[in-house]
Formats: sequence, structure tokens, C-alpha cells
Amino acid sequence: MTTVPVVQPAAGIVETAIRTRRSTIRLTAPAPGPDELRDLLAAAANAPDHGQLRPWRVIAICGAARTRLGEAAAEAAPTADLAERVAAKHLRAPLMLALVFQPRDHPTIPRWEQLAATSAMATTLLLLLDTRGWGGVWFGGPYPNAPQVRRHLGVRDDEQLLGYLYVGTPVTGEAPRPRTAADVRSKLSWLGDTSR
Ligand SMILES: Cc1cc2nc3c(=O)[nH]c(=O)nc-3n(C[C@H](O)[C@H](O)[C@H](O)COP(=O)(O)O)c2cc1C
Repeated sequence: MTTVPVVQPAAGIVETAIRTRRSTIRLTAPAPGPDELRDLLAAAANAPDHGQLRPWRVIAICGAARTRLGEAAAEAAPTADLAERVAAKHLRAPLMLALVFQPRDHPTIPRWEQLAATSAMATTLLLLLDTRGWGGVWFGGPYPNAPQVRRHLGVRDDEQLLGYLYVGTPVTGEAPRPRTAADVRSKLSWLGDTSR
């Protein structure tokens, strides 16, 4: 039998990565290419996932395909002014990753667990991108439920578009956005004797 070596992650490095990660909104070229993206996705797919259903798929959108997607989304905008702004949003990063949730009927794994697994994968991917020096941010839209957008991306009736990870190179010269440490005291409660 082959023994798979257990690689212990450098705990301090992982913790620092988690504590210092920020979403990057101002992004420019380049962005990860197909090989690197596939590699990062394979790593992100290690996120907790009941039954390893991998109930998601990712559509990578780059170059002029962003313009075409922007035009499809703009059709859903109620005014011409808004349509222009919506279209422009599709050009704010060199790479967009459309996150498509693919829930499936399963006897023991409910839809909410599958959604949680998909979210875990996406946030892990953002963290991996950040640790490699790429920038990324998860935005819910524009118009993820619009028929024009769903049709353009080929999102099926049994699927749901969970928005996009916008990915690229952080614009240099930006002041780092400080993070206020979360006060989680009211978020944590204990049952049981903590003295032992
Ligand atoms: C599923 C999801 C959708 C989001 N959609 C938006 C959005 O549409 N617009 C927005 O300003 N922030 C959105 N955010 C928040 C940003 O991705 C980001 O987390 C936030 O700006 C805080 O930055 P930080 O990640 O550096 O803490 C979304 C986050 C998640 C998890």
C-alpha cells in the first residue's frame, strides 16, 4: 500500500494570509492564465464539501468576452444611463470568474450544505489568489438572475449564478485598506465546563 505523505502547512503563514487578505477592487492586467487558474481551482476544490459533490462550475471570461457579457447584462438595465454603467462594470478586471452553483438532489446532502461548500470553495480561491499576489473580489452581479445574462452564460434552469470573482493584478500605489479587527465576543457562546 502506498503511504501518502502528510504535508503540514506552515500554520503561521496560513494564519497571516487569512488575517491580511483583502478584497481588491481596483484591478488591472495581467490575470492568471488557464494553467494557473486550473491549478488554483484544483486547490480550492479541497475546501470542505460534504460528499465531494463539487456542486459548482466556473466560467472564466476574459478579453472581448467581457464586453459581450456586459452588453447582455446592459439589456437588463431599466435605463440607458444605467445600461452604460452596467456594461462598464464588466471591464473593471481583466478576468471574471462566473460562479455557477449546480445543486443536485441528494438523499442526505441538502441544498444548503451544497451552497455552503460552493461558498467555501470560492473564498478559498480568493485566499489562494491573494497569497500569490493576485487581486480578487466577489461581487454578486450585475444582474445574476437576468434572463439575458443566464442565457448568455448558458446557465441552466437548475443552476444559479452566484455572481463573479473579479480577478487581476492589484493597481499599485493604492494605500492598503486597514481592517478593523472583528469583535466576535458576542458571536461566540460556550456550553460546558471550560476549566478542564
Ligand atoms: C457572495 C458575495 C457577494 C458580494 N457582492 C458584493 C457586491 O455586489 N458589491 C459589493 O460592494 N461587495 C460585495 N461583496 C463584498 C466584497 O466581496 C468584499 O468582501 C467586501 O468589499 C469586504 O472586503 P474584504 O473582503 O477585504 O473584507 C460580496 C461578498 C460576497 C461573499
